Amino acid sequence: MKHSLLFAILAVAFGTGSSIKENNRSFVIDYSNDRFLKDGEPFRYISGSIHYFRTLPSEWRDRLRKLRMAGFNAVETYVEWSSHEPEPGEYDFSGILNLVKFVEIAQEEDLLVIMRPGPFIDAERDMGGFPYWLLRKNKNMRLRTSDPTYLKEVDHWFSDILLPLLKPLLYENGGPIIMVQVENEYGGYPACDHNYTEHLRDVFRQALGDSILLFTTDGNRVSDLTCGKIPGVYATVDFGAGGSPADRFAPMREIEPHGPLVNSEYYPSWLDYWGTPHNTGEVTEIAQSLDDQLAFNASVNMYVFHGGTSFGFGSGSDFDTSFHSCPTSYDYDAPLSEAGDPTEKYWALRNITEKYLPLPEGDVPPPSPKFTYGKVSMEIVTNVFQMKLHLDHVNSTWPLTFEELFVSNGLVIYQTVIPFRIDDPSPLIIDEIHDRGYVFVDNRYSGVVSREREMYTLPLQGLQGETLSIIVESQGRICYGPRTNDFKGITTNVTLSGFELQDWTMVPLPLTNISLLSSILSQMEKLHHHKNTPQPELRGTPQGGMSFYTGTFNVPESLDHPQDTFLRLDGWGKGIAWVNDFCLGRYWPEVGPQVKLYMPRGVLKTGPNKLLLFEQELAPCQIPDTCFITLEDKPLVDGPTPLRNYTLEENFAHH
Ligand SMILES: *[C@@H]1O[C@H](CO)[C@@H](O)[C@H](O)[C@H]1NC(C)=O
Ligand SMILES: *[C@@H]1O[C@H](CO)[C@@H](O)[C@H](O)[C@H]1NC(C)=O
Ligand SMILES: *[C@@H]1O[C@H](CO)[C@@H](O)[C@H](O)[C@H]1NC(C)=O
Ligand SMILES: *[C@@H]1O[C@H](CO)[C@@H](O)[C@H](O)[C@H]1NC(C)=O
Ligand SMILES: *[C@@H]1O[C@H](CO)[C@@H](O)[C@H](O)[C@H]1NC(C)=O
Repeated sequence: MKHSLLFAILAVAFGTGSSIKENNRSFVIDYSNDRFLKDGEPFRYISGSIHYFRTLPSEWRDRLRKLRMAGFNAVETYVEWSSHEPEPGEYDFSGILNLVKFVEIAQEEDLLVIMRPGPFIDAERDMGGFPYWLLRKNKNMRLRTSDPTYLKEVDHWFSDILLPLLKPLLYENGGPIIMVQVENEYGGYPACDHNYTEHLRDVFRQALGDSILLFTTDGNRVSDLTCGKIPGVYATVDFGAGGSPADRFAPMREIEPHGPLVNSEYYPSWLDYWGTPHNTGEVTEIAQSLDDQLAFNASVNMYVFHGGTSFGFGSGSDFDTSFHSCPTSYDYDAPLSEAGDPTEKYWALRNITEKYLPLPEGDVPPPSPKFTYGKVSMEIVTNVFQMKLHLDHVNSTWPLTFEELFVSNGLVIYQTVIPFRIDDPSPLIIDEIHDRGYVFVDNRYSGVVSREREMYTLPLQGLQGETLSIIVESQGRICYGPRTNDFKGITTNVTLSGFELQDWTMVPLPLTNISLLSSILSQMEKLHHHKNTPQPELRGTPQGGMSFYTGTFNVPESLDHPQDTFLRLDGWGKGIAWVNDFCLGRYWPEVGPQVKLYMPRGVLKTGPNKLLLFEQELAPCQIPDTCFITLEDKPLVDGPTPLRNYTLEENFAHH
């Protein structure tokens, strides 16, 4: 044993270095022939994006194998800083965040890896992947610039934590990582701070060495590329289907006159917003345009090959001309569906890739089996007003933001007392609610204010001395553009009849901390059971909103393993769902287009499974007979959406 341990240490200390030279593992650009060279041989990649943090680790191998079996030879992933460092100095690389494991499985599945560590990633994630606590460290922090308070955090994360973890996984060190991206579509960010991007480059070089191929990705406009280009870092572009490759790659050629052409984000479709119709990309057009780009000798990464799910509170929002939040599903009409099943697009693309790269031997893994577990009866447990009595509060003259309250996401109750006699009704104005505020007077529901709908004023009826509660939901921080410093909660003063309201009490709901939430719920369950509280008194609103519901369903032993299913919530309003303490994400079937939530087999177990809902608005639970959800074997991400007499400017390219 001692011998082998000593040998292992020697191998780490000396062996790797010499084996690099013996193996001659290298990945470089051959500028004179406009191509990559891998181990000295001409090379091109056809890659697909799969985000490890959007697919359960139990499914990683399946998704990666399906990617490989489509003839693709590389996988691209972002790294999400906010998930790995949820609070300063608290790191998590376990389970769905085991990035190293994901990279190792990719290598085992014969895929190279293109790594995009950010620090900013966009990706329709909360705050574009930035930890929310940056906004607490310095509320005036200029993100993505050489602001020293920002660089201090980035440098620590990169130099001390993330990059040392990636270094042994680089191609030259025996791993699969051939390229590392610096920042992300930085040319589209107004700050355009070259000091910052050059500093980042140096941080990467220092940690990863001189030979790793660094690259940037920008929209295929010369203006974006000019700002995004970093000296010594290879500039690439991104664009969707259509147009001739010569035209589409022309801006890249202007900035990089020589070297391989690369489309770092080729879109199979486009992202969705709650309340607007599901996007799809036409199969033959997507396949044809891939064919055109490959015939033009380009290397291409499809964004995304498999989108997966923004589980928990991961999904972000956008602000172009107004605020729109992203749904939980990241199906993206991608070649592999949200549940990892090959679609028609998958087979069409496979037909194209096989013209350029050899298809590996073997069969494409089959779709995962799906199961209709059927109706699950739900029962009310308690409501937020009762739960509040068991929670910590903070008092302050003026409302505090989520960030100041150490709340990464979820909902916070803001309360104050109506201090004077008011007109009937009186305007309650919350200049910018971030993002959705449910207003109550002494627990009577008064209405909703909404950033998404730009409705910030409510006619309020109430009496002096009554308690005004505003329960504010974060719908995900803005993930792109100049507004990513998106504080949540009540971020301005609140006026009633023109007077600023003071003396607030704030109570965060423990929604992002499932162990705390579960223990409070089970305490309360016992309490109510003991007192035999009648059902209506448990409701937060007469419609059953602002309340928690639980139910149990059985995964029969006759199934070899638990099977994937989809949670359908007919008659429910808007809320958050958990199964077996795993947060599936937000639901909002009434506005669509996502109607059902994907419930992956990896979070289910044979026997009883526990479902928990936090319903914000209404539950079909006036009588127990209608108080249920259903678990069905088919997804539904393209349901109906509200009719509107305006159109959204959605065609701003970004990721
Ligand atoms: C590795 O590269 C060196 C220098 O290019 C060359 O002389 C040597 O033959 C190569 N070795 C192998 C095993 O390919
Ligand atoms: C970049 O750094 C230079 C030299 O330190 C400084 O003069 C310049 O103002 C900086 N630019 C920005 C945008 O911070
Ligand atoms: C693609 O590469 C081949 C081989 O180097 C070359 O003959 C051909 O002209 C290239 N095609 C384009 C469109 O650049
Ligand atoms: C793929 O190619 C095969 C063989 O040419 C053809 O039968 C099939 O229809 C193609 N599939 C798609 C989805 O284009
Ligand atoms: C906060 O304010 C509430 C309402 O005025 C009061 O009941 C409570 O004791 C205060 N808490 C603290 C910690 O001061």
